[in-house]
Amino acid sequence: MMKKAQNEVREITRNKKDIREVDLDEMHYLTAVIKETLRLHPILPLLTPRESCRDAKIQGYDIAVGTQVFINVWAIGRDPGLWDNPEEFHPERFLTSSIDFKGHNFRFIPFGAGRRGCPGISFSITTIKLVLAKLLHYFDWTLPDGTRGVDLESWT
Ligand code: HEM
Repeated sequence: MMKKAQNEVREITRNKKDIREVDLDEMHYLTAVIKETLRLHPILPLLTPRESCRDAKIQGYDIAVGTQVFINVWAIGRDPGLWDNPEEFHPERFLTSSIDFKGHNFRFIPFGAGRRGCPGISFSITTIKLVLAKLLHYFDWTLPDGTRGVDLESWT
C-alpha cells in the first residue's frame, strides 16, 4: 500500500521540482489512505457531547430536554454493520465511494458533523497530504530490524 501511494505521488510529481498544493487534488490513493487511517484511528474518538435543548421524540423514543449524547466515532468507524471487514486497513474502500471528510455521511465523521464540526478540515487535510506526499516523494521507507508489515497488523 505504501508503494502504491508512493508510485502515485512520484508519477504526479515526475517532472516537477517540488510538490505544490494543486498537485494534491490528483492524489486519490493518498487521500484514501488518509481516510482509512482516520476511520480506524480518529483523532477525537468521542465527539464533543451534544445536549438536547427541548423534549423530543426520535424513532419512538422520548428524549427529555438536557439529555446528553456522546458520539463514538471510533466505534462507528469499526462497526461491521457499516463497513466490510472493518478491522482491515483497506484504503481502496474509499476509492469507489463518494464519502468525503465533511461529515455529510455519518458513517465517517473524523472531523465531526454539522454546525459544531471542525472548521480546520481543509487546512488539516491539505497539510497532512502535503507532508505525507513529500515524505513519500523524497524517501524510501522500510521497517527497522527486519520487522515485516504483517507484524504491524495487530496494531490496528
Ligand atoms: C487531522 C486534524 C484534525 C482533526 C481530525 C480534527 C477533528 C475535530 C473534531 C472531531 C472536532 C469536534 C467536532 C464535533 O464535535 O462535531 C473538532 C473541533 C474543532 N476543531 Fe478540529 N480537527 C483537526 C484539526 C484542526 C485544526 C488544524 C484546527 C484549526 C486550525 C481545528 C479547529 C477546531 C475547532 C476550533 C473546533 C471546535 C469547533 C466548535 O466547537 O464549534 N481543528 N476538530
